[in-house]
Amino acid sequence: MSAGASPRPFPYNPPMEEDVARILIHREEIERRLADMAEEIAQTYHRDEEGLTLIPVLAGSIIFLADLMRKLPLKMKIGLVSVSAYPGRTTRPTAPKTVIELTGDLAGRHVLIIDDILDTGRTLRKVREMVLQREPASVRTAVLLRKPSKAPPDVSADFVGFDIEDEFVVGCGLDYDDHYRNYPHIGVLRPEIM
Ligand code: IMP
Ligand code: MG
Repeated sequence: MSAGASPRPFPYNPPMEEDVARILIHREEIERRLADMAEEIAQTYHRDEEGLTLIPVLAGSIIFLADLMRKLPLKMKIGLVSVSAYPGRTTRPTAPKTVIELTGDLAGRHVLIIDDILDTGRTLRKVREMVLQREPASVRTAVLLRKPSKAPPDVSADFVGFDIEDEFVVGCGLDYDDHYRNYPHIGVLRPEIM
C-alpha cells in the first residue's frame, strides 16, 4: 500500500476458514498419502520406455497435480484438458462440457489422467474416451478423492488418495463457485454458504 492511502475496512476479504464447517482431511494427512501414492505411481511406470504424459483435468486437479508431480522422480510431459461439470453456484453435477480441447501428442505414450475427484464418473469417462482416440500405449487414472457410493462400475481409478462419503467438499483444488481451491485442507462448507 502506498504511503498515505487509507486502509480498507476490515474484514474486506474474510478468511476462507470462516466458511468451512469442518475439516474432513487435514493437510498433513494429505501430504502423507501423496507420498505413498507417488511411490505407487513411480513403481508402475519406472520401467516403461515409451514415456509418460500426465493429463490434468482443469481446473480442479491443479493443486493435486503440482503436489503429486513434484514427488514423482520420472521424466514426463503434460497435456491439458478442461471439462466443467459443476458450473457456477451448484453442487449438483451437469453433463460435463469440454471447455479446453485435449492437447499433446499422446500416440504410443503412457497416459495418466489426473483429477481432483471421482464422483459420478462422467468427467473421467469423457476424458478417457478423448485420450483413447489418440492411441496411447496405456491409460490410467489418479484421483485425490473418490466417492465410492456414486462411482459407476465402468469408471474406475487406478490410484486413489482417499475414499469419502457422498458430501460436497472444497479445498486442494476442489471449488464451490470457483472459490476455495486454495484452501489447504479438504473441508465441508457451512450449509448457508451454498
Ligand atoms: P463427476 O463427473 O461427477 O465424476 O465429477 C467430477 C468433477 O466434478 C470433479 O472433477 C470436480 O471438479 C467436480 N466435483 C465432484 N464432486 C465435487 C465436490 O464434492 N466438490 C467440488 N467439486 C466436485
Ligand atoms: Mg470442478
